Amino acid sequence: MTDNKDLEAEIHPLKKEDKISQENLGNRLKNEDNLKSAPTQSRLSRCRTVAFFLSLFICLLVVFVVSFIIPCPDRPVSQSMWRIDYNVAVTYDFLAMEDINKDRIQDVVFLHKNTNSSNSFNRSCADEGFSSPCAFVAAVSGANGSMLWERPVAQDVAFVECTVPQPLDSKTSSACILVGRPGSFLAINLFTGETLWSHPSSFGGNTSILSPLLQVPDIDSDGAPDLLILTQEGKEVSGSIYSGSTGHQIGHRGSLGMDGGSNPLLHVTRTGAHYILLPCASFLCGCSLKNLYEKVTGKDALFKSDPHWEDMLNASTHRLLPSSGTVQFLMNVPGKAGQDVLLISSEACVLLDGQELTPRWTLGTVQVLRKPILGQYKPDTPAVVIENGTGIDRQILLLDLHSGAILWSQTLPSFPGAPPSTSLPTADHRSAFFFWGLHELIGTNEMDPGDAQHSLYMFHPTLPSVLLELANVSTNIIAFDVVLFESSRHAAYVLLTGPASSDVPGLVSVVKYKVRDLVPGSRVVHLGEGRPDSDQAIRDRFSWLRYRSDV
Ligand SMILES: *[C@@H]1O[C@H](CO)[C@@H](O)[C@H](O)[C@H]1NC(C)=O
Ligand SMILES: *[C@@H]1O[C@H](CO)[C@@H](O)[C@H](O)[C@H]1NC(C)=O
Ligand SMILES: *[C@@H]1O[C@H](CO)[C@@H](O)[C@H](O)[C@H]1NC(C)=O
Ligand SMILES: *[C@@H]1O[C@H](CO)[C@@H](O)[C@H](O)[C@H]1NC(C)=O
Ligand SMILES: *[C@@H]1O[C@H](CO)[C@@H](O)[C@H](O)[C@H]1NC(C)=O
Ligand SMILES: *[C@@H]1O[C@H](CO)[C@@H](O)[C@H](O)[C@H]1NC(C)=O
Ligand SMILES: *[C@@H]1O[C@H](CO)[C@@H](O)[C@H](O)[C@H]1NC(C)=O
Repeated sequence: MTDNKDLEAEIHPLKKEDKISQENLGNRLKNEDNLKSAPTQSRLSRCRTVAFFLSLFICLLVVFVVSFIIPCPDRPVSQSMWRIDYNVAVTYDFLAMEDINKDRIQDVVFLHKNTNSSNSFNRSCADEGFSSPCAFVAAVSGANGSMLWERPVAQDVAFVECTVPQPLDSKTSSACILVGRPGSFLAINLFTGETLWSHPSSFGGNTSILSPLLQVPDIDSDGAPDLLILTQEGKEVSGSIYSGSTGHQIGHRGSLGMDGGSNPLLHVTRTGAHYILLPCASFLCGCSLKNLYEKVTGKDALFKSDPHWEDMLNASTHRLLPSSGTVQFLMNVPGKAGQDVLLISSEACVLLDGQELTPRWTLGTVQVLRKPILGQYKPDTPAVVIENGTGIDRQILLLDLHSGAILWSQTLPSFPGAPPSTSLPTADHRSAFFFWGLHELIGTNEMDPGDAQHSLYMFHPTLPSVLLELANVSTNIIAFDVVLFESSRHAAYVLLTGPASSDVPGLVSVVKYKVRDLVPGSRVVHLGEGRPDSDQAIRDRFSWLRYRSDV
């Protein structure tokens, strides 16, 4: 039965539709009778046609205007690499990044000591009252290496640090602080190179300035954080406070009363009290900012102190805590509630609670002589990279910051003066890590380290058994950084090379290389036996890495 019906439908497929269209025709004829005027109907359809073509024309016009007449905001093309050379110069361990020409690509600021500047800016040392050679600050475009500004700033530079915030109402958002030799103390606008303020410095010839510069909350109520500079003369550490916006000294210099070393830290306790922490031999020493402020200004306190910390502090020696081994570095790290303190000594690595100063974890049997860096090994979990030992035996350890557990470790022979490791957040909420090491010594340790090439290695936690050798360098490295030049796409490394001694001028070079463009020519180093992927598959995975600008 059903078969017959189907057959009928196949033979007369239009039967039903015929009926329907005939009914429609009938209806239409009836409607036309109702309208009664055929000319009206045709005028209407002409109107419709005109309206249709008019709207089509407008559409096309809009498309034309948008695509040809209104220009797209053109993105400057970033070159894969650029290089700047100064033939007879020396340079300083300093690199700063900032978008200076507002093209949304980071630009590079560096220092060089030279007889005259590059050809495009003919400001000489004599123009600024210095004898030749003198120290220049130069800013170059990150996109193509063209010079943005360059000017002489001092006879010689003793200390430099950038991105010091300025008052909210001022046009500059960041400044570099320079201490010149002899005797100058100035701030320059990072965007133009102009001097914001300049004073003769009170730092004596034998005084060393402890890096980093500390920023303290606004004391002179000008809207900008102020500067605390710690200096060391002989063994004694003193502090001086300067206005961040004018550079004027607030009060006079005051001794901290401790024999400290370098690498001070300004720590804020959970109760809101500011403490200056310093390594002093095998102790962690401290001094409240309130105490120092009272000492240098003689005024009543603007800052708080913490009763618990005052109890722990020995008032005569300023010691807070004993440590096993000599304290080398102090770092503020993100904790579960506020900032904790990572204390690195020559024998251990300890995470201290930011309020109680009790150890959260301790990793013994490590000898760390380089400043640790932070990154992420597992998604969104902070990790710390430490270097255990130096030279041929240097071992890189990646630790979970919350537990101190070792996540990854690898022996990677180092060389004297190797630049510090760096990390860059990736889109998968981990980090890519960049380490310097000797090229030939992975796996073998029979070579003379003096002859070996220095290689830059890249590591990503999703490929834990692989290092990617990105580049070989045989010149003397002064400074190095890996930077995200454009958000999410353009990670590049910047390398500053130059003579090892500041007394013997030579070739100074600044080079930028896009990381992704180095991956195809890189060498894949397999760690251990597992060889699951081909070298090309590994390179592809490194090429596809996306980077993130926020941390
Ligand atoms: C730079 O200095 C050298 C030596 O003092 C001089 O020969 C050269 O002409 C100078 N270059 C510029 C661009 O002034
Ligand atoms: C460079 O020097 C020449 C003559 O010495 C001068 O005319 C010119 O203005 C200078 N250019 C700059 C950018 O200072
Ligand atoms: C370099 O790039 C900047 C923008 O970042 C551009 O203004 C300049 O013209 C470029 N210079 C050269 C030589 O391509
Ligand atoms: C620096 O120290 C040296 C020796 O320690 C001393 O001879 C010299 O006078 C000191 N200079 C200053 C400016 O204090
Ligand atoms: C401070 O340290 C000194 C030297 O170690 C010691 O003699 C003194 O008893 C300590 N003071 C307190 C209050 O612990
Ligand atoms: C650090 O290096 C030393 C010497 O090479 C070694 O004995 C020690 O076990 C290492 N520490 C860790 C945590 O691996
Ligand atoms: C570094 O040099 C070695 C040999 O000297 C070579 O095998 C390796 O491929 C080079 N690496 C890169 C990234 O060019």
